[in-house]
Amino acid sequence: MFYSHPQGHVFYRSMNHPRPMIAYSQGIYLYDDSGKRYIDGSGGPLVINVGHGREEIVAAMTQQAQRAAYVHATMFTSEPLEQYAAALAEIVPLPDPRFYFLSSGSEVVEGAIKLARQIQMARGEERRHIILSRWNSYHGMTLGALAVSGRPGLRSPYLDMLHDVPHIPTPYTYRFPLSGEELAARLEEAILAHGVENVAAFIAEPFSGASLGATQPPDDYWPRIRAICDRYGVLLISDEVLVGLGRTGKMWALEHWNTVPDILVTSKGTAGGYFPLGFIAAKGADVEQIRLSLGDFNHGGTFSHHAVGAAAGLATLHIIQREKLVENSATMGEIMGNQLRAALADHPHVGDIRGRGLFWGLELVQDRATKQPYPKKQGMVLKVRDRAFEMGLVVYHSVGCADGVNGDVVMLGPPLIVDEAQVNEMVGLLAEAIRLELGD
Ligand SMILES: Cc1ncc(COP(=O)(O)O)c(C=O)c1O
Repeated sequence: MFYSHPQGHVFYRSMNHPRPMIAYSQGIYLYDDSGKRYIDGSGGPLVINVGHGREEIVAAMTQQAQRAAYVHATMFTSEPLEQYAAALAEIVPLPDPRFYFLSSGSEVVEGAIKLARQIQMARGEERRHIILSRWNSYHGMTLGALAVSGRPGLRSPYLDMLHDVPHIPTPYTYRFPLSGEELAARLEEAILAHGVENVAAFIAEPFSGASLGATQPPDDYWPRIRAICDRYGVLLISDEVLVGLGRTGKMWALEHWNTVPDILVTSKGTAGGYFPLGFIAAKGADVEQIRLSLGDFNHGGTFSHHAVGAAAGLATLHIIQREKLVENSATMGEIMGNQLRAALADHPHVGDIRGRGLFWGLELVQDRATKQPYPKKQGMVLKVRDRAFEMGLVVYHSVGCADGVNGDVVMLGPPLIVDEAQVNEMVGLLAEAIRLELGD
């Protein structure tokens, strides 16, 4: 049965889109209250990494909730929190890493921006306050995170409320075949234009996430960006909210390019979708310098460092490690890429197939030769998404990649537990949905 506003008392982002009532979920499957089965091909916006219905996570959360569901981080710590941070310290590549836990991607981005500012202040670089970022990016819904985001459609109603953030281009090889050197040079130009002494940090997604749908930069891009940040004392913030914890076939996406950021943030799948959780990781030396120079990190959050969240995060991490899900993401991702290319590489309206690990994007175009996008008002990707949904496959989508308004991308990002047969089924259903909506 389908429910939607205005029948109920809930309102949503997409106000005219009816939605079925979820009844239960297991593994990579969702079931609505009519008994219909859906393959969770994207875990919503890339959240479900260890699958639905994991008793182990539910048990860890229940146990902690029974012991002590909530304590305020200014007064107490908790066992799962300390254990979780110690486990993360083993896998986060920053030297002697320290972790600050929050509840969403937007929150960890806000926190990272403030942390960067305070690291600079603690170093005696009082004037460094500007955060540089990129167009075609998404860093969150709150005003600070939206200001560093580069999605015109999401920013437009709030432009007067957003603080001024300089944006540089994002690698987008399909439409703008620039070299890593040319793209990285834009960062150097921006730092010099705004004054080295004023720039605190550069924030970017290692892979473009929802905005461009799994685009990757040229191989020399990230090492060049790292070198430029080092040259000018600018902190590099890697936003791995979407791609962290194995999504692209490495534990952290920047590992593909052997690059270590100064600050790393992640969220979405951190607690497998069982708890809203994310964290900021910083270098021990930088956190220590704040402690010695400023006394405290000037930030807060009622639900920061949540004990039940930490229990969920730790149980999720154990599953990722025990079941070798990062490796599975790499192996199944390779298969998914090959299958997508075999099924759709010659389709007249699939312009580009891109991705790595279990994160794949297909850019839909009106004309492959000219790469002309469909006009937004035709809602092509929504038609594909809805057709796939009807057929029992949940996919993710985004609009605006080509020019800020037009440009359709449909994405797959299933739980990292998928096997080959499931990958085949997903690709088959998506290809069929595309053919039915866009023709052969
Ligand atoms: C790269 C990136 N950063 C930040 C966010 C914001 O996360 P949240 O929606 O959890 O606030 C998102 C969400 O899509 C994201 O993809």
